[in-house]
Amino acid sequence: LTEGPLKGKHILVTSGPTHEPIDPVRYIANRSSGAQGTAIAKALRDLGADVSFVTGPADVPPPRGVRVISVETAREMKAAVDAALPADAAVFAAAVADWRVVSESGSKIKKEQGKLPVLEFSENPDILARVSQMMEGRPRLVVGFAAETDDVIAHATAKRKRKGCDWIVANDVSPATGIMGGAENAVTLITERGAEDWPRMGKDEVARQLAHRIADHLTGS
Ligand code: C5P
Repeated sequence: LTEGPLKGKHILVTSGPTHEPIDPVRYIANRSSGAQGTAIAKALRDLGADVSFVTGPADVPPPRGVRVISVETAREMKAAVDAALPADAAVFAAAVADWRVVSESGSKIKKEQGKLPVLEFSENPDILARVSQMMEGRPRLVVGFAAETDDVIAHATAKRKRKGCDWIVANDVSPATGIMGGAENAVTLITERGAEDWPRMGKDEVARQLAHRIADHLTGS
C-alpha cells in the first residue's frame, strides 16, 4: 500500500450506474459513466487508503490497486456494501436506480401485434440512507452525491438532512452543463457548516480535493 495520510484507513466507494433487468436481454439504466466515482477511488488510493470499490456497469475501467466488487443491480450493490463494511469513511458516488421492475421476466418478452408491455415498478433500497442511519458501525464520515437539475443547493441541503449523511457533493446535471458523462464537474460541497461552491474543474481534480478533505477530516486536521 502507498504511504500517505490515509494509510490504514478503509474507505468504501460506490460508483457507476445500476442496471435493473426487464427480461434476460433488456434493462433500465441511466447515463452515469462512473468517471467521478472512479476518480475518487483513485485519489483515495493515492493518499494511501485501502479502498473497496463497489461499481455498477460503468464506461470507465476500475482503478488498479483497489478492491473491486462489480455488481449490476441496486440490490446487489446494497449487499456488496453491507459485506464491505465496516469502513472509516464511505463515499456514495453511484447513480443507483430508484426503481426496479417488480417481476423480471425469465424469458424474452415477445413482441405481439397490437399489444404493448406494461412495466410495474417497486422502490429500490436507499443504500446511502441506510448506511447514514446505522445505529452501530456507521462509518465516521458518510458522503453522498446529489445530481440535480434545478435549485441545486436547496435540494441538496434538504437531501443531506433527509438521508442523514455528513456531506453532500451536489452537482448540476442539466444537459446543458455537459457534466453527466463529461470530463468536468462543478460541485457544491454541503456540510454541517453550509454550502461551499467549488470552481468548475476536471473530475480528477474534484476527486483529489475531496480526497484531501476526507483525509483532513479522518486525521483531525
Ligand atoms: O435520492 P438520490 O438518488 O438523489 O440520492 C443520491 C445519493 O444517494 C447518491 O449519493 C447515491 O449514491 C445515493 N443513493 C443510494 N441508493 C439509492 C439511491 C441513491 O445509495 N437507492
